[in-house]
Amino acid sequence: MTEHIIELHDVSKNYTRGVETVHALQEVTLNVSKGDFIAVVGHSGSGKTTMMNIMGCLDHPSSGSVILQGRPIEQASESALTRMRRSAIGFVFQQFFLVPTLTVLENVTLPALFSGNHTNGRSRDLLEMVGLGKRLNHLPGQLSGGEMQRAAIARALVNSPPLVLADEPTGNLDSRNADMIMELFEQLNRDGVTIVLVTHNADIVKHCERTVHIEDGRISQ
Ligand SMILES: Nc1ncnc2c1ncn2[C@@H]1O[C@H](COP(=O)(O)OP(=O)(O)OP(=O)(O)O)[C@@H](O)[C@H]1O
Ligand SMILES: [Mg+2]
Repeated sequence: MTEHIIELHDVSKNYTRGVETVHALQEVTLNVSKGDFIAVVGHSGSGKTTMMNIMGCLDHPSSGSVILQGRPIEQASESALTRMRRSAIGFVFQQFFLVPTLTVLENVTLPALFSGNHTNGRSRDLLEMVGLGKRLNHLPGQLSGGEMQRAAIARALVNSPPLVLADEPTGNLDSRNADMIMELFEQLNRDGVTIVLVTHNADIVKHCERTVHIEDGRISQ
C-alpha cells in the first residue's frame, strides 16, 4: 500500500473579512504519497498558499480533516503539532520570513537550534549549494530578492525534512538560479524527499511528476 505523508479530506477554509466571507478552499481532497514530486498551479487568489498552510499544519481547516503521517492533526495538541511540523516539514514561504536581525547563516541554522539538532556544517553546505557561500554573514536586508529566496530554501532543508512544502520557490529567480534550485529539489526527491511546490512557471511544472490544478478553491482535476 502506498504510504501517504499527508491526506486532506474534504478540506474547506473560509476567511472572514468584515461582513464578507472568502471561501478560499472548498472540499479539497488530496493525498500526498511518500516520494511524490507535485506542482500546485492556479491563478492568483485561487487558494494555493491557503492549501499549503493547511498541508503544513500551520493553519487549521474550517471543516474537513488533515492527516499527517497517519495521524489526524485535530487530535494532536499544539505542542505535539509543533514537534511533528519541525521534524517532518521544511517550509519555503512565499514571503521568505527571514529574521531581519540574524545573519544568513544564523537564519539557516535557526530551525536546527529549535529542534536541538547539530548542523555539523550543513547550514554552510546548503548555502554553498544555493550559491550563497559568500553571503553567510550578510543580513537579509542586504540581500537581493532572489538571494533571500535561496536563503529561505536552504533554511527549509537544514533539518533534512522528509517533506518540503515550497510556495513559489523560484518566483524571484532568473532561469539559471531557478534551474539550480530545481536540480537541488530533484536530487532531494531522488533521495526520497517528498516535495510539493507552488509555481506559475511551465518550465518548473515539467520537472514535477504530478500537477494539481486549483481553481477558485477547488481542485479542478
Ligand atoms: N488571512 C486572510 N484573510 C482573509 N482572506 C484571505 C486571507 N488569506 C487569503 N485570503 C483570501 O483567500 C483567497 C486565496 O488566497 P491564497 O493566498 O491562498 O491564494 P494564492 O493562490 O496563494 O494566490 P497567489 O498566487 O497570489 O499567491 C484570496 O481570495 C485571498 O484574498
Ligand atoms: Mg500564494
